[in-house]
Amino acid sequence: MDRKRKVILDVDTGSDDAVAIMTAILSGELDVLGITTVHGNLPLPYTTDNTLRVVEMLGADVPVYAGCPFPLVQDLLPGRRLNAGEVHEDHVIDGKVVAVHEKALPLPAPTIKAQKEHAVSWMLRTLKESEEKITLIPVGAMTNIATVLRMDPSVKEHIEEIICMGGGVNIHNRAFRSETNFYNDPEAAKIMVCSGVKVTIVGLDATHSSWFGYEEVEKLRALHTKAADFAAEMLYHRIYAANLTGARKEPKSALHDVLAVCAAIDPTVLQDVRHETCDVDIGGGIADGQLMTSMRYCHSQPKLPTYVAYKGDGDKLFSMMCSYLARG
Ligand code: BDR
Ligand code: CA
Repeated sequence: MDRKRKVILDVDTGSDDAVAIMTAILSGELDVLGITTVHGNLPLPYTTDNTLRVVEMLGADVPVYAGCPFPLVQDLLPGRRLNAGEVHEDHVIDGKVVAVHEKALPLPAPTIKAQKEHAVSWMLRTLKESEEKITLIPVGAMTNIATVLRMDPSVKEHIEEIICMGGGVNIHNRAFRSETNFYNDPEAAKIMVCSGVKVTIVGLDATHSSWFGYEEVEKLRALHTKAADFAAEMLYHRIYAANLTGARKEPKSALHDVLAVCAAIDPTVLQDVRHETCDVDIGGGIADGQLMTSMRYCHSQPKLPTYVAYKGDGDKLFSMMCSYLARG
């Protein structure tokens, strides 16, 4: 029997992160060594607490480690976020803030706790001590991953691949030119992308081409499991909140992070994957945090093992999600 791929999920839970965590654990297809948390959708105490809520709901024996609370250097430069034309998606209705990611996921407060060790030291130790290479799946700001790579570059030999949800070539969702996860720590995203480790970038081009609507909400509900119900609730809320804030016209929402998880199980869920020279803008201007890919002939022989997914197979993604979430 094939060995399961060893993975570490790095999350900023978060509505779509919650669906990604449930899918990874319930799939039974991945050996989830642990889940590390990072700042991003919400401040770190909330992303950690939300992650624990999801893990406890599943009754899963997967350790959670809290990681970095802030970007590496982004906020040392006053005005940097204004320069990038940052957009917040919160909206006030009847005096209540409606956000795509609520501070506390609608699950019971956790009784389980995060481990004492810091996520970065645990990740570094686990990678270095493992006989088998490990795949990292970061779906929040890339701060933990970049810190591990900076602390000990020899760790690269222990990484099978990094499958990250982040960036967008033609689609952006946070600032004028950037996607949220890369924008939340541009320097960290650049360190990761330029590290020389194989990086598969599951960006907004892929996740928005495999987004879901109210029809999928109903299909998830019809599975009648706790996990599927919760995924339906997350999807419903994301469609509602995104439409309310005017983020988009269509009643659809991408469940971004789950596409990266499913790509670790079955890479064919990604389509139009191109080996391209990539970088991330850290200029502190209008393109801060933008994933850059070069179309120029002189860059046409990619120097880095960076692969950008431009499409997701929505049907395959949804059927994978359904088959896994039906188990929980
Ligand atoms: C990414 O940003 C976060 O808000 C989501 O959880 C997802 O990881 C989408 O741009
Ligand atoms: Ca996320």
